[in-house]
Amino acid sequence: MNCVEIFICNSFIVALIAVGNMGEKELGQMDRCRIIFLPENVQVSVKPGMTLMMAAAEAGVEFEGPCGGRGVCGKCKMNIVEGETTGWVLACQHKVTTDLVVEIPQQEIYLSRKTALTESDWDIEADPGIVKKNIKVEPPSLSNQKADADRLLSALERPAQLKLEALRSLPHVLRAANHEVTVVMAGEEVLAVEAGNTVAKGLYGLAIDIGTTTVVGSLVELTTGKTIGAASSGNTQNIFGADVISRIQHAAKGPKELGQLRRRVVQVINRLSEKLAATAGITPGEIYQAAIVCNTTMNHLLLGLDPRHLAPAPFIPVVAHMVKAEAKEVGLGIHPHAQVYVLPNIAGYVGADTLGVILSTGLHHVEKSVLAVDIGTNGEIVLALPGRLLTCSTAAGPAFEGAQIKCGMRAQAGAIEKVQIDEQVTYEVIGDVSPKGLCGSGIMDAVAEMFRVGVLQPSGRLTPKDKADHLPQAVRERLQGSGAEARFILATSEETGGEPVYLTQKDVREVQLAKGAIRAGIEVLLNHGGVSPEELDEVLLAGAFGSYIDKHSALGMGLLPPVDPEKIRAVGNAAGAGAKLALISQEARQEAAAAAQEAQHLELSTLSEFQDAFIRFLNF
Ligand code: FES
Repeated sequence: MNCVEIFICNSFIVALIAVGNMGEKELGQMDRCRIIFLPENVQVSVKPGMTLMMAAAEAGVEFEGPCGGRGVCGKCKMNIVEGETTGWVLACQHKVTTDLVVEIPQQEIYLSRKTALTESDWDIEADPGIVKKNIKVEPPSLSNQKADADRLLSALERPAQLKLEALRSLPHVLRAANHEVTVVMAGEEVLAVEAGNTVAKGLYGLAIDIGTTTVVGSLVELTTGKTIGAASSGNTQNIFGADVISRIQHAAKGPKELGQLRRRVVQVINRLSEKLAATAGITPGEIYQAAIVCNTTMNHLLLGLDPRHLAPAPFIPVVAHMVKAEAKEVGLGIHPHAQVYVLPNIAGYVGADTLGVILSTGLHHVEKSVLAVDIGTNGEIVLALPGRLLTCSTAAGPAFEGAQIKCGMRAQAGAIEKVQIDEQVTYEVIGDVSPKGLCGSGIMDAVAEMFRVGVLQPSGRLTPKDKADHLPQAVRERLQGSGAEARFILATSEETGGEPVYLTQKDVREVQLAKGAIRAGIEVLLNHGGVSPEELDEVLLAGAFGSYIDKHSALGMGLLPPVDPEKIRAVGNAAGAGAKLALISQEARQEAAAAAQEAQHLELSTLSEFQDAFIRFLNF
């Protein structure tokens, strides 16, 4: 029996009254606790003893839990506004013992950054491999007693087979609009029959980019290729860990655990489809095609494939080629016979999301030398040369996503996103609020500036205050502590109105590890491609982070090789754009399959040159 019931309440007031009326049950006598999560007013009933984080995940509300509930990152804070005790708690540590109303800090800005990114330009005609055809079917009579399906097939005037769902709805649909219907066909298969002429209403598909942290969906009108809407959500698998390895480990425990992960991501996609369909004034059942890009682990978890052999060397996936399935097989709540294309993986740690970047930026067709870097929870790098594609991946992202940084946070209200150090430290904060922490671009700006002015030494060591005479007084004063306790204050308590925002020596080491790994990966790819940094014609930065980082900071801290800043270009959510291309174009799907075959993957962990480069590039 499902132990969780989910209700959507009408208003906060209703929520508070509900909790008030639940009243005075004694602790220990309660067999269920009702938790109401604000601001979405989602109510969930759970067994006492479950953590607030698990309850939030069961309710499907979005929240952060970068350390996977180990209680070490301090990023899963929620505010209990009604209950036995009130105030801020760590959701992963707080066990539910009574009815509660809980407020979750909002992440809209972060999520909108993930969705509202510019798409790459492409010149491609929509040819999704699926059509709508309006036909008039001869009504039955004593002189035409043919079955409904046979009369429909006669009117279609082409070979076709009706899928079971289409047959099920056929008698009603045929008679609902006087035997005028619209047939949705993929190849020779009739996926659905709609009453009346619905051609002008449009034909819809879903492009999905499943990230380890965030899932982004776009609703696309398939005949024009036009994006109707986009939405995103946190990947609620994160209660089993922020990184792919933790999730592989959980899935490897057995089919039940694999099922938990699969259901979570399917649930997220289904919520996004419902939301997007509602915006477009259609039902999810009117979405007839989907294309999905994701990393290889997410691919396995979505499809319910055992991912355990991805974790240890030699990092073997169950499947690398494109998987085509019906929506009902995957568990998606769109039309049950909708065609779902899960794009091919390139390797165990270079998935279809990288292929999406390749597809949407045309890297598989270049006549020049182009480097593409996609920094998310992992860092994937592609070097495209005429007739050649080289790829690699590095475990690099969490520091740049703020997950392993003491004052790190997502790019949401209160995050410092730009830093400048001159006579003073100045910064820009997202939203009209006091600074609360640093997002990825802020971290990179801060580190680059700290290195530029000499707060940081080339080794990454914070300059001791008594050796920082070269710094302006107001900057020197911000150096505090020593050794492992050393830190540099970016926003003081007076400026924040609470805790200061700072980078610690340990934070700087985390950033060094991440930047060292990415830069070393780039170096190895360039070596194998026989290209020097100066010979690169273009450097593309993909993903939300790539779109918001300052390219001068990325160069200044040595994340990118020394190239002309003019050659560096942000390409937005190129992985998601690749999913859209695959959704609307059969040719693009073929190209994706060919590019996945053609790509040559370098396994960095086996290359001593990577280790050497990594050590070399740890320094600034
Ligand atoms: S401290 Fe709760 S998820 Fe990290």
